[in-house]
Amino acid sequence: MPIDHKHPISGASYSAVELAEDNAAVLMLDQRRLPTEEIYERLRSSSEVARGIRDMVVRGAPAIGVAAAYGVVLAARQAKSLDELGALALEIRSARPTAVNLMWAVDRMLSAAQAFGRVDVAMLAAEARTLHRDDVAANRKLGALGAERVPDGATILTHCNAGALATGGYGSALGVIRAAVGAGKRVRVLADETRPYLQGLRLTAWELHQDGIPVEILTDGMAGWFFAQNAIDLSVVGADRIARNGDVANKIGTYSVACLSRAHERPFYVAAPWSTVDVDCATGESIPIEERSPTEITHFGGRRIAPEGVGARNPAFDVTPARLVNAIFTERGVIDPVNESSVTRLAGGA
Ligand code: MRU
Repeated sequence: MPIDHKHPISGASYSAVELAEDNAAVLMLDQRRLPTEEIYERLRSSSEVARGIRDMVVRGAPAIGVAAAYGVVLAARQAKSLDELGALALEIRSARPTAVNLMWAVDRMLSAAQAFGRVDVAMLAAEARTLHRDDVAANRKLGALGAERVPDGATILTHCNAGALATGGYGSALGVIRAAVGAGKRVRVLADETRPYLQGLRLTAWELHQDGIPVEILTDGMAGWFFAQNAIDLSVVGADRIARNGDVANKIGTYSVACLSRAHERPFYVAAPWSTVDVDCATGESIPIEERSPTEITHFGGRRIAPEGVGARNPAFDVTPARLVNAIFTERGVIDPVNESSVTRLAGGA
């Protein structure tokens, strides 16, 4: 059932994920069905939340983190001890490998439970709602910082969906665009369709169109041609994990956008809350890249479109080296230049 009021935490009429008022269920907007159907799944156990993350009912690094935090609340309803809570949380923590927000959120919830000294559903629900609110506030802050780099009249390329649907609300890359529009700048957006899951075509286009922000869809192979015609002023994308040296893992195809941006001397920006930065990961080489089923490529709408007997490769993410990233917008400040000393300085380590 659609949420027909402004959601108090996401600030929009929709919310990727929320906790039911009685703390007994997690509501996930089924992003596999957007934009044709706006349906919320009601999940009643931590295993169901893990399944919702694995099957991409909810997706996008910060939204996965919020869902995981709410999943730990459901685990707390089932667990009789902190050990049992930790065991149930492990299933959520391992639902997808690349977005570090997932591990970060579960660990924050378990630390809160440890600090409290017992399994307390109400306390964990309050902690999870705070984590959700913090994510929206972070997106608004980093969006405003990023918007300063957006010229009036810019045409902006984005890849995948790093919007309200991919976060607790407002969005990271789309947060930059929303903040630029809020500051009175006229912008146009080109959204890569983002094969094979079509997050750009289905989700980014849906979100921006609802906000009245001009958006057109490109197939993934078109961006080079638009750069060649000087039709793109800058690119901004989200991130699933940022390594200590500034390498960025994001949706497959992001690296191509970064290479094109550099070849055509246009800025390539990344927008992400600090929960996406993994200072324990020295470089992009140690970021685990999720491999998804080849059927996402070989099949379309449940029907095989590739020749029988031919396989497909399906890495869900790639890594863009720090040297191709002009700046990273976070709520702690702008990482520019993008290198290890800038990241560790913002991390508080130098
Ligand atoms: O596979 P997905 O849809 O979860 O991948 C999402 C992305 O790659 C996003 O760009 C990233 O998580 C940032 S979302 C603010």
